Amino acid sequence: MTSPAAEIVDAAAYAQAVEDAVKASAAYYAGGTSTLDDDTYDRLVRGIAVWEAEHPDQVLADSPTGKVAGGAVEGDVPHTVAMLSLDNVFSPEEFTAWTASLARRIGREVERFSVEPKLDGLAIAVRYTRGRLSRLITRGDGTAGEDVSHAIGTIEGLPQNLAEPVTVEVRGEVLMTTAQFEHANEVRTAHGGQPFANPRNAAAGTLRAKDRAYTVPMTFFGYGLLPLADTEASLAERMGELSHSDLMAQVAAYGVNTTASTDVPGVTADTAEQVLARVKEVAALRAALPFGIDGIVIKADLAADQQAAGSGSRAPRWAIAYKLPAVEKITRLLEVEWNVGRTGIIAPRGVLEPVEIDGATITYATLHNPSDITRRDLRLGDHVMVHRAGDVIPRIEAPVAHLRTGDEQPIAFPEACPRCGAGIDTGEQRWRCENGRNCHLVASLTYAAGRDQLDIEGLGHTRVVQLVEADLVADLADLFALTRDQLLGLERMGETSTDNLLAAITAAKDQPLSRVLCALGIRGTGRSMSRRIARHFATMETIRAADAETMQQVEGIGTEKAPSIVAELAELAPLIDKLVTAGVNMTEPGAVPPSPTAGDTADSESPEAAEGAVTPLAGMTVVVTGAMTGPLEKLSRNQMNELIERAGGRSSSSVSKKTTLVVAGEGAGSKRAKAETLGIRLTTPDDFATLIADFVD
Ligand code: IVH
Repeated sequence: MTSPAAEIVDAAAYAQAVEDAVKASAAYYAGGTSTLDDDTYDRLVRGIAVWEAEHPDQVLADSPTGKVAGGAVEGDVPHTVAMLSLDNVFSPEEFTAWTASLARRIGREVERFSVEPKLDGLAIAVRYTRGRLSRLITRGDGTAGEDVSHAIGTIEGLPQNLAEPVTVEVRGEVLMTTAQFEHANEVRTAHGGQPFANPRNAAAGTLRAKDRAYTVPMTFFGYGLLPLADTEASLAERMGELSHSDLMAQVAAYGVNTTASTDVPGVTADTAEQVLARVKEVAALRAALPFGIDGIVIKADLAADQQAAGSGSRAPRWAIAYKLPAVEKITRLLEVEWNVGRTGIIAPRGVLEPVEIDGATITYATLHNPSDITRRDLRLGDHVMVHRAGDVIPRIEAPVAHLRTGDEQPIAFPEACPRCGAGIDTGEQRWRCENGRNCHLVASLTYAAGRDQLDIEGLGHTRVVQLVEADLVADLADLFALTRDQLLGLERMGETSTDNLLAAITAAKDQPLSRVLCALGIRGTGRSMSRRIARHFATMETIRAADAETMQQVEGIGTEKAPSIVAELAELAPLIDKLVTAGVNMTEPGAVPPSPTAGDTADSESPEAAEGAVTPLAGMTVVVTGAMTGPLEKLSRNQMNELIERAGGRSSSSVSKKTTLVVAGEGAGSKRAKAETLGIRLTTPDDFATLIADFVD
């Protein structure tokens, strides 16, 4: 996890590094977009620190290591107590070393820590006078900041009036949630402005902007409480004695937003081990949070410990930031590809100059749809902020507009379908080839023959192209009419491969309905939804007889999906009839069709229960993660999910409070961590195999 220091070889490189860091930091604190992403900046400062440790007599006065961070903005409102920054650690070892040095300094172990997310926004001081919100001040250079009271009323989480008429200062972070950021960029570009590169820049720019024609909301989270000069003496005294966690409870009781309202509330921990366990938990939850965090802040909780530790000029000694790997990097957008999906959707995808984010090299990022490109005013050659969290597909947040050179080129939108040349239906946000799913016959046949659908071995992409180009198949059902002679007539098809392919095609006729349904490629019905539908209705006939209302009896199908599934099935009727005639199985083994009056009853979805057999996973939601071993070793994720559902359970790919059991194999990572956080039962692949032994083939 440690971010390596940038290597600085000589005094000239050192001076340059200091200059770069100062410039980037100035832009950062002035609310502009830094020329460096956070990770690069951190590495640069670490490199500077390493060089300075070796050349203590040559340290430059404006080095970012020595001063209160962010001294760029001239502020006119003095802070009562300096708004300090935080020192960083990047690994468990560095953290443990910090706790040890803190213990040495105060002459005892820290009694208790408070552990809270490091919110990725900007620090502000919020003054309340007799309970009324009176002033907002940025951090500025730490001793004085800018008055940004004009932003009062646009920051969620900061009430105009506290629950008590106290005079206090709440400190905390102003940020934009992901949704607020999207909204802000939409409004901004609609007003002809350049989009902000990321939520942090958006919050910084918005907070400082005066007299804008529009306002966009931001969010505040408090992480500190202190008295002001006018604070009643007894209250000021009490505040000086309270632990950090008690102060935070007080902030929340006043009605100000804190992280207590989120999935990653501040907690206390008695030992360094407990802190590290919490760091892991928060890191695992990071990708799913609706706002950005860039680390975890650990503070000595007790006032007495904080006082004993004291503060340096830049940062307190009683707190530290445990930085998480950066999830954002700046790279260049080289190209935009237009891919036609199975259903004819034409989707843009950004090709990037490869960039490493949290250990993975990123070359592609999603670009949702054409209007998304227009809205973000993206151009080829742009520097773009790329965001990648967890296993989610990386996304381009926005261009870094001030890095434009003028050589950037507009992104050309296709005028005809890039696959078949037909017209494009641009009526919806997502563009679609007018030929719909036929456009991509090759893609849809390859998908249908895939391992998780009809599993026709020997029918990969190349072979499908051959069949389509030779006009031997025009739809899925034609596969089942292929003759030996036709196949032998194709290039590179010998007798053995022909016989093997014919046998595989014949075997595919016996696949369960769930796989046949999945092979049809109906929008919104992937593998697990197809299984749910097949299990619920048991036969293709019942599925086809279902209207939108009946379709909604299947879990996960709501008012929006139901009519589109019903309509697509109707559209596919001739193909389904053809498949039936070809002898393709249209029933789900073991499933029982729902009785017309029964509605969404449990037994229609638990066939084994209906037959009186034991379903060991009845009522359970199971998540599989990591590598399977033992009897389950050879099973694909899809086969594992099929198995879980055969045994009466529900399979899911993400861990949530609703998960009952997590099967964690070798190499399980964040899902396992999340299960531990939520206290969800974990089991090994071997024990799981024993539990469902009756259902393993
Ligand atoms: S405590 C004196 N707590 O991180 C203690 N800061 O890198 C300083 N930050 O300037 C602040 N989340 O803007 C604290 N839970 C948290 C925080 C937090 C984010 C920011 C804050 C600070 C910066 C230091």
